[in-house]
Amino acid sequence: MSPLLFVTDLDNTLVGDDPALAKLNQQLTNHREKYSSKIVYATGRSLYLYRLLAEAKSLIPPDALITSVGTEMYFDQNQEQFDPEWANILSQGWDRDEIIAIANQFSELQSQPKSEQNPFKISYYLAEAVSEEIITRLKSALSDQGYMIKLIYSAGQDLDLLPQNGDKGLAVKFLRQRWNITAEQTIVCGDSGNDISLFQGQEKGLIVGNAKPELLQWYEDNKNDKLYLAQSGYAGGILEGLKYFGFL
Ligand code: GLC
Ligand code: MG
Repeated sequence: MSPLLFVTDLDNTLVGDDPALAKLNQQLTNHREKYSSKIVYATGRSLYLYRLLAEAKSLIPPDALITSVGTEMYFDQNQEQFDPEWANILSQGWDRDEIIAIANQFSELQSQPKSEQNPFKISYYLAEAVSEEIITRLKSALSDQGYMIKLIYSAGQDLDLLPQNGDKGLAVKFLRQRWNITAEQTIVCGDSGNDISLFQGQEKGLIVGNAKPELLQWYEDNKNDKLYLAQSGYAGGILEGLKYFGFL
């Protein structure tokens, strides 16, 4: 078998069912040894919050780490500085201070903790009841000022503002090019809104059985034969998907 590029979100995708995670970790470790497969985590968490989870759940070290919804990339999880080439791609059309000034006009947006803000990600909490209206108004306020910004809403509470060139899906494409791995040999796994970009390319997509409503709704509207919605949740759903796509 040729090398597999295995990409997974963490919270409520890889992590959530400890016994299934232990089983999956074993399979992934074997796959990496046998076929030189690559393991990548693509999380909404900052590097700081990633490290807390990695330690608590004894996550196996990845070959690359995509944090902060695709706005930072690391090739060594012990590294402190994110990849400069990726940062350069993100900087196009982005002006952090100006974007914050526009978002500050909306009192419904509550800033997330400082650890979750970075040069290319501005994150808020936003109540679900008003989310549609506020996102629409914020989007048009931004585009009126010439900013084409990505607004990503997840789990009925988190709103991320990202550069047009940055999200988890685009970060995976960047890695595929760097490692020369085809979309057919790539599987991406997720459970919520910030994973949708992972499923928009040609890669094989696995949605865990416990996925959030916003992702299930997107799946209903965009079903295709590269996507698989698992019956099982969390790492159990990933094992199911790896078998379904013939990787195990
Ligand atoms: C993680 C991040 C948070 C982000 C959310 C959704 O929880 O810590 O900043 O808003 O993912 O992407
Ligand atoms: Mg998740």
